Amino acid sequence: MGFSINNPDLSVKMGNFSLKNPVVAASGTFGYGLEFAPFIDLNALGGFSTKGLSLRPKLGNPVPRVVETEGGMLNAIGLENVGLEKFVSDKLPLIHKYECRLICNFFGNTVSEYVGMAEALSKEDRVDALEMNISCPNVKEGGHQFSSKPALVEEVVGAVRKATEKFLIVKLSPNVTDITETARFAELAGADALSLTNTFVGMVMDINTRQPWLANHTGGLSGPAIKPVSLQMVYQTVRAVKIPVFGIGGIRSADDALEYLMAGASAVQVGTENFFDPCATIKIIDGIRDWCIQNGVKSLSELKP
Ligand SMILES: Cc1cc2nc3c(=O)[nH]c(=O)nc-3n(C[C@H](O)[C@H](O)[C@H](O)COP(=O)(O)O)c2cc1C
Repeated sequence: MGFSINNPDLSVKMGNFSLKNPVVAASGTFGYGLEFAPFIDLNALGGFSTKGLSLRPKLGNPVPRVVETEGGMLNAIGLENVGLEKFVSDKLPLIHKYECRLICNFFGNTVSEYVGMAEALSKEDRVDALEMNISCPNVKEGGHQFSSKPALVEEVVGAVRKATEKFLIVKLSPNVTDITETARFAELAGADALSLTNTFVGMVMDINTRQPWLANHTGGLSGPAIKPVSLQMVYQTVRAVKIPVFGIGGIRSADDALEYLMAGASAVQVGTENFFDPCATIKIIDGIRDWCIQNGVKSLSELKP
């Protein structure tokens, strides 16, 4: 079908990776995609990013591990997931019939675990892209998060780059002094794209027990509360690197997504809003299309700064 003023081109090209529209469901808020199939047509999405996968299954942290906050939520799920083997045997075959892009989010606690995950996921044809979550402690480096130090970012991204030919997205933590620095090191080490931001460390106290609310004490803040901060980080990062950026943080509406696109993001990811409205991603895609029609925008590329 030809694109026109009434049928804008929402597709996104990132080198050899493309999306039919710029909206991707964010990791950890969309299960393995299949959980949302009763509510929305997964084929209509640009894509989705799976819950973070690890070599072995993980049960995650003790409860309570989520709590609502002003304009958002805190979570300390602890990266619960079915593990690589079960994902490949039980989930992946069911995802095959959908045509949207499948991004596999994964993590490790050592460089070799990251490499092992990348190698294993790279064998699967249905996997369109890998998204490395580097907001994880490196057990061999005193528990410092990989994302916290440029040298660690370079090491782990460089090792994964050598292990895969898949489109490689590196997901950055906002819990650093200068996110453009970690972004540049990820680019240098071979990332094809960046996604930012992950959640911000925060906490809630329970004034009845006088203890931290979450069993883990601290958690990751997400939702509308983080949007202005994440947006600013995306804006700065887009200007510091040459590779494309997925903008993430507090997107609830098409207007929010458009803000990220106008700040320079090539695509967006929608997280916490999926919990409030499982149809949010579809409404955002429709809203972006309507905005383009109303504003005479024929192609999303016109929004690039
Ligand atoms: C409950 C929950 C679980 C998450 N799990 C993951 C994960 O496994 N891997 C990851 O890279 N990000 C994870 N995230 C982070 C989100 O993908 C996203 O980066 C963050 O929530 C900010 O976007 P939002 O404000 O739209 O939610 C999780 C977020 C939430 C709320």
